[in-house]
Amino acid sequence: MNVRDSEHMIAELNREETYLLTKDAKEADLILINTCSVREKPVNKLFSEIGQFVKHKKHGAKIGVCGCSASHLGEEIFKRAPEVNFVLGARNVSKIREAVLKERFLSIDINYDESAYAFGEFRQNPYKAYINISIGCDKKCAFCIVPHTRGEEISVPHELILKEAARAAKSGAKEIFLLGQNVNNYGRRLSGGKRGEINFSQLLVKIAEIDEVERIRFTSPHPLHMDDEFLEVFASNPKICKSMHMPLQSGSTAILKAMRRGYTKEWFLERAKKLRAMSPQASISTDIIVAFPGESERDFMDTMEVMEEVRFEQIFSFKYSARPLTTAAQMTNTVNNKTASLRLKTLQDRHAGLLDEMTPNYKDRVFEVYFEELRENKMAAGRTSQNFTVCVEGGEELLGKIKNVKITRPQRLILYGQVV
Ligand code: 5AD
Ligand code: SF4
Repeated sequence: MNVRDSEHMIAELNREETYLLTKDAKEADLILINTCSVREKPVNKLFSEIGQFVKHKKHGAKIGVCGCSASHLGEEIFKRAPEVNFVLGARNVSKIREAVLKERFLSIDINYDESAYAFGEFRQNPYKAYINISIGCDKKCAFCIVPHTRGEEISVPHELILKEAARAAKSGAKEIFLLGQNVNNYGRRLSGGKRGEINFSQLLVKIAEIDEVERIRFTSPHPLHMDDEFLEVFASNPKICKSMHMPLQSGSTAILKAMRRGYTKEWFLERAKKLRAMSPQASISTDIIVAFPGESERDFMDTMEVMEEVRFEQIFSFKYSARPLTTAAQMTNTVNNKTASLRLKTLQDRHAGLLDEMTPNYKDRVFEVYFEELRENKMAAGRTSQNFTVCVEGGEELLGKIKNVKITRPQRLILYGQVV
């Protein structure tokens, strides 16, 4: 979502002036730092990063801090880093042009409604179009700061999404990537409180009807809203990539309850089993938090059991990090850091073991790969429908094309192969 927010800011800036992107901060007239606040570590890094930019920047160059930490820290950023010129929250992206014109500017209103704002056009990757389908989140999971930085959930009207998808696909983005904190809750509330006319499953079908769209991805769905209609559309529609993100967070029903996730271990396992049965070729990825307050060894074993049973193709795993404004931050039954580190390592080591069992099976298999980028050593990289990264020898001629690739050397993170 931050990548897309950055694209939106670039597009807005380019409406009347031409801004050129540079990776060299010394050269920049404007430095934008788009921030995350989900865990504490990146927030701490923010101020040292600002310090580095201040030291090396061109005289007169402006610095803007944007995104979730901007929403959350607001004025404090000016206090701790007076060299910052503007602070723009995650729901105030459309004000970037106003921000750059002022000496000092702050806009962090989490009720500001950009759900139907027609942002300008900019895409970092011409082959893949990110499209926001909703902003904010209504869920209020106990550990999560996002509802406090991105505000309440509002869906983007489906007409706008379809128009944007059609325009992007016609201009060469064969892949449409739908974004939202809780995508499969799409349509619950539009701007002004009205209910949307279509739900997420229906939106997927409508996007698939656009001829030029060849692949559809989305993130993040919530396990609670994975109803049968959704799983059926996912499994049966050939344009929907067979890669599902199912953020587990914890395998323990007691911890899920404390997290306010709204589902149980059994519900999650049943949905995952159903998905595997309906779409045997699909990959499942997940997010897992270890050492949430009150997590016992038994609770952690529940998480390990779910991982063992579902055999996720990919996990993103984190140590619990207490975040301001969240209800979990008030909990006193915290798990000590040594135990938390040990659990994270146990989980990650076992997942590496699972990958070592799964990866060799990809040898000699043929996947359809959509090539998106060039890598070092004359390699081109792309993704399979399951979201596996595949590298082959090749160059520009492959970019934007879908080719059959036979895997010759499967590795944990990259499958190497040859176009056949
Ligand atoms: N501590 C650790 N991980 C967190 N996440 C969200 N909030 C926290 C937190 N306070 C993780 C969740 C979420 C992912 C994007 O980040 O797993 O799905
Ligand atoms: Fe955070 Fe939960 Fe919303 Fe995801 S669903 S953004 S974890 S509050």
